[in-house]
Amino acid sequence: MTIPSTEWKERIAPDEAERHAGYARDFKQIQAQKSAKFGKGRALHRKQQLGLLGTFEVLRGLPGHARHGLFVAPASYEAWVRLSNGGTDRQADKKPDIRGFAIKIRGVNGPGALGSGPAASQDFLLINHPAFTFAGADEFVGLVKNLTRGPGALLGYLVSRYGFLGALGMMKRFARTFNTPFTGFATQPFYSAAPIACGPYAVRVRLKAASDDVKPGAAADWAGDFCARLERGPLRFELQLQFFVDEARTPIEDASVDWPEDVAPYVTVGVLTLAEQDAQSEAGESLAAAIESAAFDPWSALMAHRPLGEVMRARKVVYFESQQGRR
Ligand code: HEM
Repeated sequence: MTIPSTEWKERIAPDEAERHAGYARDFKQIQAQKSAKFGKGRALHRKQQLGLLGTFEVLRGLPGHARHGLFVAPASYEAWVRLSNGGTDRQADKKPDIRGFAIKIRGVNGPGALGSGPAASQDFLLINHPAFTFAGADEFVGLVKNLTRGPGALLGYLVSRYGFLGALGMMKRFARTFNTPFTGFATQPFYSAAPIACGPYAVRVRLKAASDDVKPGAAADWAGDFCARLERGPLRFELQLQFFVDEARTPIEDASVDWPEDVAPYVTVGVLTLAEQDAQSEAGESLAAAIESAAFDPWSALMAHRPLGEVMRARKVVYFESQQGRR
């Protein structure tokens, strides 16, 4: 096994703050346009599938390099979970999309990643892809902006940015990303796809699937599939970390690289348990409403787990704008 390294570095471009402020304005516009149609909601991951209550247990006997921040000692915490479709629209589950699994660990203690007081929670925002579609935020923002403007605008944008052949290549890449088979929120692994700190180390996060019992009909109703499983018993998900070894194989500033597991194996550090619960009950619905209006954010974190890399720095500005836009 390759020894985890603390020699990681962030590289911040001089125009970054200005660019990120522009992205926030772009998403504010998209959000306002969509909220006029769907009502108040997030600029992305607008459709909440489920809002659930869980517990998160930090395991004992972790290796020294993992024992930082949330994982410094065995403990048990309350957790909120929001399952979502990634798009800007509230669309049918059958439609190809990115899926979100957001976890908010509550009741943590320690300075916050924003450097402005104690952490309110430790959040992990995960998607059903081991890596981000792009190295940085700029291409992502360009894609989302032009997707919402329609197929003509998207094609024009792709050709002007990547050339004719490049545009074809990009469309194939998007199709591969969006059409990646998805079996369900209980039977699929989820990933942070971008790094965070773990004390002096840098890591990426994976949530292992709770079950390998895939139900063919789940695609029509992801929430229904998940609730049916919860009625049969608790669901347990292992939370894992893989550690930075060097910039070449486990880059900080290129979120499109999936760190190879033979170089950076995953270590299980905790277990998220979702006990049996009735999401349709009165208590279940009021929890779901509280979760819908809550802010899940990679920067709602302990300083020991501050988000790293340009994609994460862009999210700090854009998420804040989206949260303001739905308050
Ligand atoms: C590694 C890359 C990324 C991952 C894993 C990711 C994951 C997520 C997840 C899971 C959510 C839903 C959170 C919830 O349920 O409340 C979310 C929301 C959102 N994401 Fe991302 N995202 C990524 C990159 C980006 C980028 C680059 C942007 C824009 C520059 C972006 C913009 C948004 C916005 C605007 C929201 C809604 C925030 C809110 O109103 O609370 N994301 N993302």
